[in-house]
Amino acid sequence: MHPMLTNAVKAARRAGGIINRASLDIGALTIRSKNYNDFVSEVDHAAEQAIIDVLKDAYPDHGFLGEESGSQDADAENVWIIDPLDGTTNFLHGFPQYSVSIALKQKGQITQAVVYDPNRNDLFTATRGRGAFLNDKRIRVTNRAKLQDSIIGTGFPFRDFSHLDTYLAMFKDMVKKTSGIRRPGSAALDLAYVAAGWFDGFWEIGLSPWDIAAGSLIVHEAGGLVGDFEGNEAYLESGNIVAANPKVFVQMLQTLSPHLTEELKSKKR
Ligand code: IPD
Ligand code: CA
Ligand code: CA
Repeated sequence: MHPMLTNAVKAARRAGGIINRASLDIGALTIRSKNYNDFVSEVDHAAEQAIIDVLKDAYPDHGFLGEESGSQDADAENVWIIDPLDGTTNFLHGFPQYSVSIALKQKGQITQAVVYDPNRNDLFTATRGRGAFLNDKRIRVTNRAKLQDSIIGTGFPFRDFSHLDTYLAMFKDMVKKTSGIRRPGSAALDLAYVAAGWFDGFWEIGLSPWDIAAGSLIVHEAGGLVGDFEGNEAYLESGNIVAANPKVFVQMLQTLSPHLTEELKSKKR
């Protein structure tokens, strides 16, 4: 394993330990609402701090972009992008589907990625150019050819409803054109599931970089394609993301395309 990935895994497992301990007594947590339907507990903060401590110790001159603590030295050559608990709503309800997501961005490119599911002890990892793994096993996207035979993951809008009608129109089409849609509730894990071949594809509107930085590299290294709703690269910036095996990817873009508003199209640079 690449030494930088080893350190990211150490950080993710430490955060997972904090999350697992806290899950035994959710009632004892202090929960604060950041925004409408956007909750955070001391677990999110403690897990993020643990990750940053491990990585800062190993790499004192690296920058950080964390969901809870914001950015530190974001212009550094190496920036760690962290979601300490992806799927907080699930966690706070005791619904066992959430993850820790850590990615390293080097000179603008994601090069290392970890998505860790502390419930199942599933560790999804990737290093650019070296493939994707679940625990110690190489993983690959499916080679299912038809969207009609596919299971597709997604995320429903639940905080920002500005694209709700558009989303529902996309959803209606996808329901009819696939074998089934799933909404587990952790975007980082949804992407890891595409990489592992448990989903044939995934799409969601308006995610943040920490939700998708790690998962997108894992999909890529598992032989999948990742893009925005027009199949272009800038999904980390827009947060509008489609990820799938290459055949299903094209069919998902075709299904989404009639519904794209100007705002959801790729930004011209
Ligand atoms: C959320 C989860 C969810 C997705 C939301 C994200 P959080 O992250 O990834 O699946 O639908 O858009 O914000 O807030 O639980 O870290
Ligand atoms: Ca998240
Ligand atoms: Ca989070």
